[in-house]
Amino acid sequence: MCGIIGIVGHQDVADRLVDGLRRMEYRGYDSAGVCTIADGNLVRRRAQGKLANLVAELAANPAPGETGIAHTRWATHGAPTEQNAHPHATAQVALVHNGIIENFKELRDELRASGRTFESQTDTEVVVHLVSREIEAGKSPQDAVQAVIPQLRGAFALAIAFRDYPDLLIGARLGSPLVVGQGDGEMYLGSDALALAPLTQDIAYLEEGDWVVITRSGATIHDADGNEVTREFQPSGASAAAIEKGNYRHYMLKEIFEQPTVVAQTLRSYLRPAEERVALPQIDFDISAIDRVTIVACGTSYYAGMVAKYWFEQFARVPVDIDFASEFRYRDPVLNPGGLALFISQSGETADTLAALKHCKANGQVIAAVVNVPTSSMAREADLLLPTHAGPEIGVASTKAFTCQLAVLAALAAHLAVKKGRLSREEEAEIVSHLVETPAALNAALDHDDAIAAIAPLIVPARDVLYLGRGADFPLALEGALKLKEISYIHAEGYASGEMKHGPIALIDEHVPVIVLAPSGPLFEKTVSNMQEVQARGGKVVLISDAAGIAEAGEGCMATIEMPSVHPLIAPLVYAVPVQLLAYHVAVAKGTDVDQPRNLAKSVTVE
Ligand code: F6R
Repeated sequence: MCGIIGIVGHQDVADRLVDGLRRMEYRGYDSAGVCTIADGNLVRRRAQGKLANLVAELAANPAPGETGIAHTRWATHGAPTEQNAHPHATAQVALVHNGIIENFKELRDELRASGRTFESQTDTEVVVHLVSREIEAGKSPQDAVQAVIPQLRGAFALAIAFRDYPDLLIGARLGSPLVVGQGDGEMYLGSDALALAPLTQDIAYLEEGDWVVITRSGATIHDADGNEVTREFQPSGASAAAIEKGNYRHYMLKEIFEQPTVVAQTLRSYLRPAEERVALPQIDFDISAIDRVTIVACGTSYYAGMVAKYWFEQFARVPVDIDFASEFRYRDPVLNPGGLALFISQSGETADTLAALKHCKANGQVIAAVVNVPTSSMAREADLLLPTHAGPEIGVASTKAFTCQLAVLAALAAHLAVKKGRLSREEEAEIVSHLVETPAALNAALDHDDAIAAIAPLIVPARDVLYLGRGADFPLALEGALKLKEISYIHAEGYASGEMKHGPIALIDEHVPVIVLAPSGPLFEKTVSNMQEVQARGGKVVLISDAAGIAEAGEGCMATIEMPSVHPLIAPLVYAVPVQLLAYHVAVAKGTDVDQPRNLAKSVTVE
């Protein structure tokens, strides 16, 4: 959510700043801007909308200079206009910001009262005025920043440039991520290692409260108390190539098709198939003592958690609470000491999830984090880090991260069950044997891509779409509806199929397609009964099932989508594919911006 980058270089930086923004555009794409320092001036270029507009602006009005900062925005305060685009600047200071300054109103009132004028509606602009005021009073950049940081409440990653100090930038982090990169006679700041991947692999992660001065010759890092500290530079492992689209039309499609590979990659870290065992990383606490699990996440990651609740309760017989991260703290949850709090997040930076994690940590919970970015804030706070190995996910709609999360969660649930003595050796072997079938089943599901694309035109005209599922496939109905609404802008809702008759069935008519997820298994008959209730009222059903299920219940459906026949355990992973592909093809047919849907951003670092 907002991407920032800064370079103190030894040649013009504007092009490289823009390239860094391109790698972070998934974090926000409402507007973009750069500011360089050249001939004793701050040279600022900004443009509303996608990065291409900034590129055009720079082509018309270049920004020379060997030091600069840049930003791609996801609007929080103020419309996505050029005026509100970062960098914000005074004559002397320019800065870019990711996060929210919660006390900006009182700071702005105070600054206005002292005669300062504002040109934007953003919260960020107060920071540039505060720093400027200190500089105008004769302070050094370091002293100015150190004086301002304690005045800010909220979350921020900042990169600040000073007109009269063309050889340095200052970065600061509290609540939003910021990395420092080390190059050959150059230094960098960035929201993540990916942004800096083509520039350097040598990365240090700032800790909460750190601020850093970078010059061509290195970085001086201070902690929140002003003490100089060392943060280890380490190889980032972020590959510039990993975020190319290849031959795919969209990142989302590429990432959907990567699922067999990345799920296999993830399972390799959590299973020992030859021995038919689950094998988790070293755990430094007595997992068998866990008698309650609290799962907290947002969006698609939350739906992965909902599936996991079925597994934890079924295999390990451990009760599970699950909450949206944005709700969790506000219900004042009861957290008995020694419980396991499990956080699921692709980015590892989602502000609400991170805040919930810190709350649980402060309340004596053991913290486990299932994250896709192993250097993220959540990963670093966790007692037990369970990485998904999905690789960078660039499409804003989460796909491969979801199935990899499910793979990790299934292994974790089985492991907990084994350690609690709730699974026999044979039962563990059976679970492992089903999980290892997943990559092949995902491939088989992907084989139906063309058939799913052919069904998309049936959904395109709809104003509302319903998704139904039962048991562990109910969260998949929610996920299918989320995917459709976020990239095609068609209103969609997921329901537990048995809930239809308690209200939602009133919505049914021939204009509302109903997507029914009904793999063969113990819940099939009941789901099909609910589907028939919909059909009896004129509802147009798309049935997603295996060959046996379609043979039994496909008649009378508007369309069917065939999936391979799989064990119920892995059905949630496999049935993710058709709901992802259906949403994708509907969005493509509607001509929406699949990878960068309106109003959204990938990494939600504001609460
Ligand atoms: C939907 C989607 C979002 C994220 C949510 C949580 O396709 O991507 O709903 O799942 O914003 O993000 P993470 O997993 O990074 O915490």
